[in-house]
Amino acid sequence: MSNIFVIKGFGGERRLHGTVKVAGAKNAALKAIAATVLFRDTVTLTGIPEISDTLRMFDLLSDMGGEVVNIKKGKYEVSIQRGFATELTPAIAKRMRASVVLTGPVLARYGKVSFPHPGGCVIGARPLDLFVDGFEKMGATVTIKEDSYVVEAKDGLKGANFFLKNQSVTVTETFMMAGVLAKGTTIIKNAAMEPEIAHLANFLNECGAKIIGAGTPTITIRGGKLLTGKGRLYKTMPDRIEAGSFLILGALAARELHIANCDPAHLEATIEALRSAGIPIEVKKTEIIVRSASRILPVDIKTHEYPGFPTDLQAPMTVLLTQADGESTVFETIFEGRLNYTESLSAMGASITMMDPHRALVRGKTELRGRKLESPDLRAGLAFVIAAIVAKGESVIHNVDTTIDRGYEDVEHRLRAIGVEIERAKVLPEANYGEPAK
Ligand code: EPU
Repeated sequence: MSNIFVIKGFGGERRLHGTVKVAGAKNAALKAIAATVLFRDTVTLTGIPEISDTLRMFDLLSDMGGEVVNIKKGKYEVSIQRGFATELTPAIAKRMRASVVLTGPVLARYGKVSFPHPGGCVIGARPLDLFVDGFEKMGATVTIKEDSYVVEAKDGLKGANFFLKNQSVTVTETFMMAGVLAKGTTIIKNAAMEPEIAHLANFLNECGAKIIGAGTPTITIRGGKLLTGKGRLYKTMPDRIEAGSFLILGALAARELHIANCDPAHLEATIEALRSAGIPIEVKKTEIIVRSASRILPVDIKTHEYPGFPTDLQAPMTVLLTQADGESTVFETIFEGRLNYTESLSAMGASITMMDPHRALVRGKTELRGRKLESPDLRAGLAFVIAAIVAKGESVIHNVDTTIDRGYEDVEHRLRAIGVEIERAKVLPEANYGEPAK
């Protein structure tokens, strides 16, 4: 059985109200879970979002021999002791791209790691060349088999100096963690600067690591001993992508919506883009209030590594632009497959022309109509939820368990609490999603 969302649209009316609380960041939590391999004792993780990706990452650690205890909702104790496997269980790792960040800590601690080509969202080629280069620079040998990689560093990893040709988030995190247990100093240049990276480094430093510069383009890591989690508590930072998605939802479907438990400093590019579209936004310390505009203005969006406009908010923003008066362009610079969902928005009534795989022209304002939708990835999944709320009539979103549930904790309850008419149901998998919903 697969899960669907049935959503009754408001046909453009602004009926949402109240406060929606942002959960812990998926892309921070996943890396903290991987980082437990760097510890000689128990690590306590809190604020972990209960989503299928984090649960799968815990499953992977358990399957490899780690001990994972769920103390209460969002709180876990993890301990990696003797007998921990160096092979990332293929059946689990393949289903989640983020599993690749485990390779850094496992290789650094045990001198060996093997892993399958990881899966994850279908948003582009997503190569592993930078991982392979990095392992080799740190003194490991990499054997690429039919569908797996075997990496060995018999004498342990040694510090290295590398320049990333792309500012990759997971590559930066993988080698930052590898550097913590390597011999000598590792310098990562052109490192990604996403706030989740600095958040991870801060926690590791509290536990004994020596990382300088995380959050800037040059990160320096002095290698040392296994870390200790004694007396320390990891608290997951708020999810900036979720917060940004709720902001966009509020701008489209609420007179006033409060987004609580967020860090506005991480959302500057998004707030700037929304303000350019004429959306009134009030920023407080850990809350953002979004109000409706009488008219949404067109804006040109270009995704960029942090602190630029996040690729993970590109799809929700495009939904907003279908409701702007005039022509906007969306330029996706990071992943070449990340505009595929626009076909479904067009089927809902949007006027979107693909200029090439990276660029779309959105002509607004268009009325959206409810439909059957199948999301190609997690972020487009939430964009479809937003589009369905704005649309006239009912929409049915398929494959919720393999897309939206990977990244948004209990989303339907939180949305219902602010007035969204959304229900979850289970259906037999269906092949054809082309027909309009009733
Ligand atoms: N790249 C390479 N070689 C590599 C690795 C990456 O060329 O070996 C390229 C990619 O092809 C891409 C660019 O580097 O063009 C940047 O991709 P990046 O590696 O940063 O993406 P990622 O680390 O795989 C993370 C998030 C994504 C988010 C991107 C960009 C996690 C687990 N995933 O992916 O989040 O879109 O950074 O910000 O942190 C999501 O949460 O839905 C999601 C896809």
